[in-house]
Amino acid sequence: MHKKFPSDFLFGVATSSFQIEGAVHEHGRGESIWDRFCRQPGAISDASNGDIACDHVHRLEEDLDLIASLGVNCYRFSIAWPRVQALGHGAFNEQGLDFYQRLVDGLLKRQIKPVATLYHWDLPQALQDQGGWANRETVHRFVDYARHVHKHLGDRLHMISTHNEPWCAATLGHDVGIHAPGIKNRAIAAQVSHHLMLSHGLALQAMRADGATANLGIVLNMGPSVPASPMPDDIAAARRADALSRRWYSDPLLRGQYPQEIIEELGADAPKIEAGDMAILQTPMDHLGINYYTRHVAQASGQHWSARAHGLPVSEMEWEIYPEGLTDILCQMKADYPHLPPVFITENGGAFPDKAPAEGPVQDLDRLSYLQEHMAAVTVARERGVQVDGYMVWSLMDNFEWGFGYSKRFGIVHVDYDTLKRTPKASALWYRDFLQQWRKNGGQA
Ligand code: FCB
Repeated sequence: MHKKFPSDFLFGVATSSFQIEGAVHEHGRGESIWDRFCRQPGAISDASNGDIACDHVHRLEEDLDLIASLGVNCYRFSIAWPRVQALGHGAFNEQGLDFYQRLVDGLLKRQIKPVATLYHWDLPQALQDQGGWANRETVHRFVDYARHVHKHLGDRLHMISTHNEPWCAATLGHDVGIHAPGIKNRAIAAQVSHHLMLSHGLALQAMRADGATANLGIVLNMGPSVPASPMPDDIAAARRADALSRRWYSDPLLRGQYPQEIIEELGADAPKIEAGDMAILQTPMDHLGINYYTRHVAQASGQHWSARAHGLPVSEMEWEIYPEGLTDILCQMKADYPHLPPVFITENGGAFPDKAPAEGPVQDLDRLSYLQEHMAAVTVARERGVQVDGYMVWSLMDNFEWGFGYSKRFGIVHVDYDTLKRTPKASALWYRDFLQQWRKNGGQA
C-alpha cells in the first residue's frame, strides 16, 4: 500500500488541546467552557474532567520524542484559546503562547510539520458568559485571537485550520446539549453554526491580509448518509441527514448558500444572516480537512439505526466500521463541488476496548486493521481522482473523549492514567513500520 501514496503526502497523528493538555490552572490559562461543563453533574459519563488529562503540557519534550519516534511528517494539534487569551478578549497571555512556541519549535527541530487548529471547542468561559458563539461579537473576538496566533506562530505553521467540526460545536453543544456549553435550543444552534463559519471566513481574510504563508482552511466531520431501505421515505430521510450534517457546512463554504430545504425547515429558527455574510463564508480555502469515522444510516421513523443489531462490525463507540464510506464521501465531495480544495483526512481512527497485557504493547489488532482499511480507502479515492494530500490518525494517544471522559480509548499509544506512562500499541508500531517502508520508497520524512 505504501507505494500508492506520493512522496509529498502528509502522514500524521492528531490530538486536541483540551483532550490532552491538562495544566488548566497554570501559566495564566483562563477557564474554558469544557472546564465548566465537566462540573455539571452527569455531563461526563465517568465524572472526569480535563484538569490533568494526559498531562501533555508538563510532558511536552517526551511527547515530541514520542511523535518523532513514529516517523510521521506532520502533527495536528489545537491551540487552546483560553491559554493564549484567558478571557477571550483583552490581554493576551505570553506564557500561554510560549507553550505553543515550544511545541512548534520542537516539531520543526524534529522535521515534523505543525498542523494547527485554532478552535477545537474550548471557548473561553468569559465569552460564553456574554452569549458565546450565539453572540456575533464572539466572531470578532475569534478574528483577533486568530490574528494574534498567526502573528506569533504563523511563519512556522504548515497548515492552519480555523475550526474543527463546527457541526459538533453547534449541534452537540447547542441543540442536543451533550457537549459544552450544554444548551438545548435549535435556534441558538443554527445561529452558532453561522457565526462559527463567519468567523472562519473573516479569520482567513485577516490572516491573508497579514501576509499568511501557511495553508489555510477548515476541518469538517462527514460521512455518507444512506437510507436504511429503498423506501422513498428513507431515501428522503437520508437526504435530509446529509443536508443537515454535511451540506449545511460544505454548501456555504464551497457554493455560497445554505441548503434551502433546511432553511425552510428551520423557519423562524433559521440563523440571522447579515448582508455580505455569505460572500465571507465563501472565502477561498487552501485545504479542506475531513474527519471520517463512520457512515450514517437514516430511517424515516427517525429511530436510531443500530449497526450492531444488523450484525455489522462496530467500534466501542457503536460506530459502524465502514471503510468504503471514506472513499464514498471523498468521491461525493468531488462530484458535488467543482472548486473543492485539496483534501486532508485530518482525523480517522477508532475506540476499541484495549486490554493491556501483563507485558509488551497492547495488541490492538482491531484498531490496526481499521487504520489499514481506511488508508486503503483513501488510495481508492485518489485513484478515482480525488486530491487527498494527507492522512492523520485520531489519535496520537488515549485521551479525554468529551462526554465519555477517559472511558473510550482512541490512541495508537496507550496512556496509563495512574502513572501517565505512554506505551505505543501494536497499531502505532505498525504505522511506524508502514511509514518506514513508504520512506524507503521515496516518501519524505
Ligand atoms: C471527533 C473530534 C475529536 C475526537 C474524535 C473521536 O469528533 O474532533 O476531538 O473526539 O471525534
